[in-house]
Amino acid sequence: MTPMVSATVDADALRHNLAAVRALAPRSRVMAVIKANAYGHGLVAGARALEGADAFAVARVEEGLTLRREGIGARVVLLEGVFDREQLELAAAADFDCVVHAAEQIALLREAAPRDARLRVWIKLDTGMNRLGFKDRDFGAAHAALAALPCVAGPVNLFTHFANADDPQSPDTARQLARFAAATDGLAGERSLANSAGLLAFPDSHADWVRPGLLLYGAAPFAGTVGSDAGLRPAMTLRSRVIAVKSLDVGERVGYGGDWIARRPSRLAIAAVGYGDGYPRSLPSGSPVLVNGRRAPLAGRVSMDMIGIDVTDLDPAPLAGDPVVLWGEGLPVEEVALWAQTIPYELLCGISQRVGVVLR
Ligand SMILES: Cc1ncc(COP(=O)(O)O)c(C=O)c1O
Repeated sequence: MTPMVSATVDADALRHNLAAVRALAPRSRVMAVIKANAYGHGLVAGARALEGADAFAVARVEEGLTLRREGIGARVVLLEGVFDREQLELAAAADFDCVVHAAEQIALLREAAPRDARLRVWIKLDTGMNRLGFKDRDFGAAHAALAALPCVAGPVNLFTHFANADDPQSPDTARQLARFAAATDGLAGERSLANSAGLLAFPDSHADWVRPGLLLYGAAPFAGTVGSDAGLRPAMTLRSRVIAVKSLDVGERVGYGGDWIARRPSRLAIAAVGYGDGYPRSLPSGSPVLVNGRRAPLAGRVSMDMIGIDVTDLDPAPLAGDPVVLWGEGLPVEEVALWAQTIPYELLCGISQRVGVVLR
């Protein structure tokens, strides 16, 4: 049975976007960020489609273990590292790379690493995001302590994350780059700094490894731009269908709260998608959807399972069963995110379990 709401994931688009990333950063290896269910595209399906990447990055040990259980043997980097003995043992057994961002993690590795463990590690410098990572003043000692551990394989790799690269005019990224260069000067080990925005806007940040997430899924990180501006293709298209069509007289109201009022004799299509599918309730009337491939505005509040669409101007009039696209092919998720006053990341990651993810 075809699910009422499906997210079709275009594996060719994922591969195309990976190739586009390689063309943008030709001297770097690619750590494909597939955390959060590959931004909603399906962790394992995403990893399979992106098997040409040099490594995968995930946030949690569970995500990495799922990849291994599904037979994915590629290099996997835990972006937040491990937080207790059990996680460390699992990470060592699964041969994950671990980011190390806090003194507690160095102590954990010292005290609890399995005797024969040989872990690849990435020390994280906090260059200004103030989320994870060692401050500059603690970095040298932390690096030395980590490098001295017998469980650490090879040189300690070097890592930071940008807070503001999606604003190319901001001086913050140049500052972060300079702090990273100063703190890591002369150290062996591979370097990784660039997320999607860094990759696009700051070629100086490419270093040994780039870490794109959003770009691989075909979306752009800069407000007011879309992935196709950078030659990318949207990988996910969220689809539903019309389940009812009705006529409204002038003055009739639609949906909870009756916010939308027919100002003219109107035709309304009801489509089977709502916030229970991860289609955001914050989308106001007027937000675009595609019905039979043509744009039409939302009418009334998004309910849990349904939306109303003003299809008065669509000729021929849609019928029950006709296709509706909420974002993806023909309707950039970046544009929908602007209407919802959020970012494309949140929309992609936020599709719910009820949505059937179908790889094409
Ligand atoms: C540490 C780290 N690196 C890279 C990324 C990928 O970011 P983007 O999707 O903007 O490319 C993320 C995502 O949040 C991240 O947390």
